[in-house]
Amino acid sequence: MRIISIANQKGGCGKTTTAVNLSAGLASLGYKVLLIDLDPQAHASLGLGVSREITIYDVLSKLTKYKATLSQIIVPINDNFDLAPSNILLSTLEQELSDEISREACLHEVLSSFKSNYDFCFIDCPPNLGLLTINAIRASSEVIIPAEASRFSVEGVKKITEIIDLIKNRLNHAVTNKVLVTMFDSRLNHSFEVLNTIKNVFAKNLFDTIVHVNVKLKEAQSSGLPVIAHDKYCRGSKDYISLARELTLNSKPREQEKVTEKAVKATLEKKIEEEMRKFIPVAFNLHAPDAKEVYLVGDFNNWTKSDEARMIRQGNGDAKWSINLPLARGGYRYKFIVDDNWTEDPLNPKKARNSFGGVDSLIEVSDNN
Ligand SMILES: Nc1ncnc2c1ncn2[C@@H]1O[C@H](COP(=O)(O)OP(=O)(O)O)[C@@H](O)[C@H]1O
Ligand SMILES: [Mg+2]
Repeated sequence: MRIISIANQKGGCGKTTTAVNLSAGLASLGYKVLLIDLDPQAHASLGLGVSREITIYDVLSKLTKYKATLSQIIVPINDNFDLAPSNILLSTLEQELSDEISREACLHEVLSSFKSNYDFCFIDCPPNLGLLTINAIRASSEVIIPAEASRFSVEGVKKITEIIDLIKNRLNHAVTNKVLVTMFDSRLNHSFEVLNTIKNVFAKNLFDTIVHVNVKLKEAQSSGLPVIAHDKYCRGSKDYISLARELTLNSKPREQEKVTEKAVKATLEKKIEEEMRKFIPVAFNLHAPDAKEVYLVGDFNNWTKSDEARMIRQGNGDAKWSINLPLARGGYRYKFIVDDNWTEDPLNPKKARNSFGGVDSLIEVSDNN
């Protein structure tokens, strides 16, 4: 599970919009996604139409009356997309945690012991650099920093990257970060200027995808839906699907894995069927009323008495023994072993001498058998 925080201390730069729509985008590509709302303002929860009493607060707090596990608070949003909701009580957690020794690692501990089959876990952070955001970064291996294409965003991004570096060094925790340009308005020259500055400063740590200004993203949020459920073809949907693809360049979604698995199975079945078609079922029969056991041996089974070569008495006390063997086209020598006596097939006139001075029965397996 890739754990990714979406963080920036600046409010209104597109954290929640990115958290919700990137999660929904990845889910639509077949990845299984959990979104943890770690903002007491609960915008992600509300933006998905979810309002709950028991939330991530009850998972992280030691003082809550309703202690819960992460699995217990999860709300399904759609097929591959689940939410761990938040509410305003979460704002008291920072105070509660301030006396604890491993106060930066609470969420990390919860996620480390969380058994799940999610491909991605996103954490939507509050708009500050307090203990909640630090917990999120400590729990993550990646951070996405949404930056609005506006004049003051560069300084803000520098500040959060400093905090990430601090967490990296102080807590000895490996975490990478990447900037995502949001609310890009291509009608404004100014947007391009800001984009250039961001490109110069963050060079390699910048997503190729740019999220444009799109009113559908706002509309979707107020109707409690991810944008792809609100308007699949709008610019906002396209941008977040593009971001989802960029994030998964080198991995395969489950659906595709399933498709590959299916394809392999189909090829295998075809191969087996082709192999099977090379064989023709041939019936061998012998009249032996007094026999206790009868085997069919020949070129096709190295003349060995095995379980597969044991013939079956037809009906109780019946004198007829028979066996059906799938044989590839071609000629074979064979014999019956009746209670340890090797005999040729009395019903088959085709015979040939063998090197032991005896006689073998002959059979030619062809499409006419
Ligand atoms: N690309 C965008 N185009 C238009 N409006 C956007 C876009 N991204 C975010 N918004 C709107 O801007 C506001 C702030 O975005 P939000 O994602 O809540 O920011 P944050 O979580 O960083 O505070 C919301 O009303 C949201 O609908
Ligand atoms: Mg938010």
